[in-house]
Amino acid sequence: GNGAHVPALVIGTGYGGSVAALRLAQAGVDVHMIEMGMAWDTPGSDGKIFCATTAPDYRSYWLRTKTKQPLSNFLGFPIDREIPKYTGILDAEDFSGITVYQGRGVGGGSLVNGGMAVTPRRENFGAVLPSVNADEMYNVYYPRANTGLGVGTIDPAWFDTTDCYQFARVGRKHAQRSGFPFVFVPDVYDWDYMKREAAGTATRSALAGEILYGNNHGKKTLQHTYLARAKATGRVNISPLHRVTSVSAASGGGYTVVIEQLTTSGGVTATKTVTADRVFFAAGSVGTSKLLVKLKATGALPNLNSEVGKGWGDNGNVMCGRANHMWDPTGALQSTIPCSGIDNWAAGGVFAEVAPLPTGIETYASFYLSITKNPNRGQFSWSGGKVDLNWQTAWKQPAIDMAKTIFDKINSKEGTIYRTDLFGTYKIWGDHLTYHPLGGAVLNKATDNHGRLHGHPGLYVIDGALIPGNTSVNPFVTITALAERNIEKIIAADLRP
Ligand code: FDA
Repeated sequence: GNGAHVPALVIGTGYGGSVAALRLAQAGVDVHMIEMGMAWDTPGSDGKIFCATTAPDYRSYWLRTKTKQPLSNFLGFPIDREIPKYTGILDAEDFSGITVYQGRGVGGGSLVNGGMAVTPRRENFGAVLPSVNADEMYNVYYPRANTGLGVGTIDPAWFDTTDCYQFARVGRKHAQRSGFPFVFVPDVYDWDYMKREAAGTATRSALAGEILYGNNHGKKTLQHTYLARAKATGRVNISPLHRVTSVSAASGGGYTVVIEQLTTSGGVTATKTVTADRVFFAAGSVGTSKLLVKLKATGALPNLNSEVGKGWGDNGNVMCGRANHMWDPTGALQSTIPCSGIDNWAAGGVFAEVAPLPTGIETYASFYLSITKNPNRGQFSWSGGKVDLNWQTAWKQPAIDMAKTIFDKINSKEGTIYRTDLFGTYKIWGDHLTYHPLGGAVLNKATDNHGRLHGHPGLYVIDGALIPGNTSVNPFVTITALAERNIEKIIAADLRP
């Protein structure tokens, strides 16, 4: 409540925030988590908590009056539709040169993401987090994160026979015929549940087009893993539909945190102030960067250093589709959960996810989300009373060039062409977006080597903002493992004097 005092306040309930809350609570510290999105624990009038990707309704987007689907067009037609303005689950946040997709609600990105749970190859780790001891990460923290998240891998024998991965088998065949390494990719979706969906003995979720706006079944989101365990300690409280707007030093020690309570149409019903001994920034790369850049510029946290806002990257994300021949159908029934990829990182700087296109009809399309070694980095800055990001669309060109090292070759081998109808009219590359924002408060630069912000003791960054722009694979396992590493150190050194 207003005027309260808490030992630890966590801003955001995604991966970094959930790890922090669980470990602090287990160490005996009472934790209050503030989340701007909704709780996502109550069904709507249709009996479902989440809406399907094929039928976006009021629950789909964060405070938009029209959907902004990552694939904006299909067969020449724009597919976005009008929706009521509501605190929906997926935020398509527009900056001048890029749209950044993020989850909103208790569970953060775990509510909307594909669940692909990928540990980077050990030989690539030095470039991902240069100041972090790789032995510790691969011996202790990656295994701890994978266990905590409930990561599992598809049964290869089932993969080979089930209708819903026909698209991925076509992806495998085309990768291998062109000499590219095909790999299975772990995921947090319950693979046994998916088998039951396919067998008709469980309510369909992955096989019913659910993913981007939440899964009603099957997916082990943070609500089912870290946050469930955190709540079970009895020491963690979560306030959904509350947004942190300010953090500043309190006169009696600790920090004053200003919090707005939101309505489901985005209005502010109350402004509350609490004090906290320690504050953990876990609002995601963009959310944490925006807060810190504003708080430094407005003088609320004047001692933050000049690294705040820097080192932001898009994990090299770029999307494309290929048009297959009639003898390579990708299937009318497609699981929304990706399970495989093309790992050409060493040779070409690309890890391409073989992605589903779950339209419910046969499209003969192969669809890919590539993670590339794009070297470009953006910076957040404060101007005109708001935070901007200086990213430019042209900065995706290195990512496109890298993705072409795979898909030009596959097209030439198969005698196929790129789809030009998915991102606009005659547009091949989905270069306008990222699903994987990273950086903005980089480890060992804006913070010390464990996420303590310079200049203000008791303030920590513990989310994707710490990672300098690229993880070589999908990022949430690395975000989780780094949070496990940092919170262990922080509890031992700062909370047990
Ligand atoms: P995260 O974004 O998870 O959580 C931050 C939370 O803070 C949010 O809930 C937000 O609402 C809240 N917040 C922000 N500002 C606030 C404020 N001022 N006050 C209060 N609360 C605030 N990754 C992967 O590894 N595998 C995958 O398959 C995918 N797929 C994928 C698909 C899609 C569509 C998206 C959008 C993303 C992915 N990702 C992914 C990316 C992954 O989801 C992402 O990297 C993590 O969720 C980031 O974790 P964080 O802990 O950094 O923040």
